[in-house]
Amino acid sequence: MYVRNCLVVWCLSLVSVVLLVASVEIKPDLIRVESLLGHCHVAAEQTRCSGFNFESEGERASFDLHTEVRITPDGSTYEVVADDQPSGALIFENCTFVHFPARLLYSLEVTELDMRSCGIRHMRWDSFAVGAEKLAIVLLADNLLEELEDKNFIGAGNLQFLFLNRNKIRNLETDTFDGLQRLQYLDFSENQLEELPPRIFDDLESLQTVILAHNLLTTIAGDLFAYNPHLHSVSLHTNRLENLEEHAFRVGKQHRLHSLDLSHNARLTVLLLNLNASRLMVRNCSLDRVNLYGSVTEVDLSDNRVQELYFPASETLEYLVLRNNSLIQMASLTRVPRLRHLDVADNPELAPLPEGWQTPELEHLDLRSTGQQELPVEALQGMPRLRRLDISGNNLTDIDPTTFPLLSKLTNFYLHANNWNCFNLRTIMDMLIRPNGITYTVDTVDPDFPGEYIHGIACMYRQPEREALGGSTEIDSGFSASVESTQLINEELSEVAKLRNELKSVVQHFEAKLDIIMNALEQLNDRMSSIEKLNHTIWNQVTLSV
Ligand SMILES: *[C@@H]1O[C@H](CO)[C@@H](O)[C@H](O)[C@H]1NC(C)=O
Ligand SMILES: *[C@@H]1O[C@H](CO)[C@@H](O)[C@H](O)[C@H]1NC(C)=O
Ligand SMILES: *[C@@H]1O[C@H](CO)[C@@H](O)[C@H](O)[C@H]1NC(C)=O
Ligand SMILES: *[C@@H]1O[C@H](CO)[C@@H](O)[C@H](O)[C@H]1NC(C)=O
Ligand SMILES: *[C@@H]1O[C@H](CO)[C@@H](O)[C@H](O)[C@H]1NC(C)=O
Ligand SMILES: *[C@@H]1O[C@H](CO)[C@@H](O)[C@H](O)[C@H]1NC(C)=O
Repeated sequence: MYVRNCLVVWCLSLVSVVLLVASVEIKPDLIRVESLLGHCHVAAEQTRCSGFNFESEGERASFDLHTEVRITPDGSTYEVVADDQPSGALIFENCTFVHFPARLLYSLEVTELDMRSCGIRHMRWDSFAVGAEKLAIVLLADNLLEELEDKNFIGAGNLQFLFLNRNKIRNLETDTFDGLQRLQYLDFSENQLEELPPRIFDDLESLQTVILAHNLLTTIAGDLFAYNPHLHSVSLHTNRLENLEEHAFRVGKQHRLHSLDLSHNARLTVLLLNLNASRLMVRNCSLDRVNLYGSVTEVDLSDNRVQELYFPASETLEYLVLRNNSLIQMASLTRVPRLRHLDVADNPELAPLPEGWQTPELEHLDLRSTGQQELPVEALQGMPRLRRLDISGNNLTDIDPTTFPLLSKLTNFYLHANNWNCFNLRTIMDMLIRPNGITYTVDTVDPDFPGEYIHGIACMYRQPEREALGGSTEIDSGFSASVESTQLINEELSEVAKLRNELKSVVQHFEAKLDIIMNALEQLNDRMSSIEKLNHTIWNQVTLSV
């Protein structure tokens, strides 16, 4: 106790002043920091420091705290460093160190070093050389680093999390990360890396996550991760990737990558990878060709220009998103026994789905805006578990009511924005959608739309198909058939004259509508009330084509 009190007194008297001693040996000048007093607050397992300002290129802080003592957790005194107990986090706030300080960890045994936004431009090879054995987390994000030295982190053999994101680092050396055998997490996003030297990650045998998003990388060489048997996820989105070697993401035969993100690489046109991964995202690139060997479970290729796919091991696919591409057929995807979710929306040239397609696990099928003219009944028969079907934004006119049992298990059936025939749509709504409580989405009401809205879904009244077969070739050609239908209507209306009184107001609407159709079909709906009020009988006797 006497020794300790003595030390405290000795220390307090010595270190209560920050001495600034210029070193003559090296540039920049070393400025000694002998105490944390006045700058740092110690609480529990954290030491928070603020107000250190070493803003000049010509000076570098050197922490020459006495090695034999350290601040106690309650901040009231110092104690002799007797064992190797870690003393928690050292956090610098509102500090500037143009040069990473020398000897920082020499007398402070910390497990976490937080030096974010400290204006650091330069680091030396020996930054962690002494006293960094306990360091597990280093946060150097939001600094101004442009390069890292060879073996920059040597001495920090216990480091597990390293954050270097949001710096200006342009290049790395092959051995920059040497000695980091326990590193699990490396965040290198938002730097200016143009290339990765070969074998850069070879020493990182515990590496699980590497984030390289928002850099300027153009190429990923083969076997970059060959010595990272625990690799879990790799993020490379928003780079300038053009070339990916086929085995760029090979991580050993027994191991599967969990997630790989290659999205937002505008120059990437070909994806030819041999990869075992749970999740692959390559959104918003310029892909036109995709060849995936190996096995993948979830794949998102949205917002590309993919025309055809080649998935030799498509058996493992469970989730596939191909939204907004240029697909013209899906024939290469016929063997997908585990597929649960398929989204091919916004592929306007997509041909009808393969016939006799066996997708026994499919639960969710999105065919929005895929130029479909008919419901793909054959394909749907191979989807006993289907619950969500989106066929909106297509050109469907009707669904054969004999198909309804196939569709009645759906929970969600999105069918708006099609070209529905109102006669058929009414049957769909009244016999399929409403009795089964199926969720659907309505169309946005357009006051200029010349048709009707049945339960919120747009449709037009058209002659049934048997009439069409009977002769008129104008059925499909839109409004030109409306003249013919007017005569028809008038005949039919005379036959149902006895209904006329009862339905007078409805018929007036109807006639008014036809007049307007003949006069360029403008602003019809302004004067139409809901067609729902109409009695079915009249529609069974009236056939028209609009
Ligand atoms: C850091 O500076 C900001 C203003 O620049 C201030 O609001 C904040 O309290 C300071 N933090 C510390 C720990 O001094
Ligand atoms: C797609 O990438 C471009 C850059 O290539 C970007 O400007 C755009 O915002 C991205 N689009 C989406 C939907 O992410
Ligand atoms: C993927 O896994 C299979 C089976 O485990 C293995 O034979 C193949 O070599 C692996 N491919 C890659 C690229 O790791
Ligand atoms: C489709 O993808 C392209 C990029 O390939 C993108 O620019 C466009 O905005 C996307 N369109 C939609 C509707 O998402
Ligand atoms: C819908 O199909 C008709 C013929 O059946 C065609 O004239 C029309 O252009 C198609 N519309 C769209 C948006 O594909
Ligand atoms: C429709 O009109 C017919 C003939 O007047 C009538 O027998 C029938 O009950 C009406 N149906 C409805 C649903 O009002």
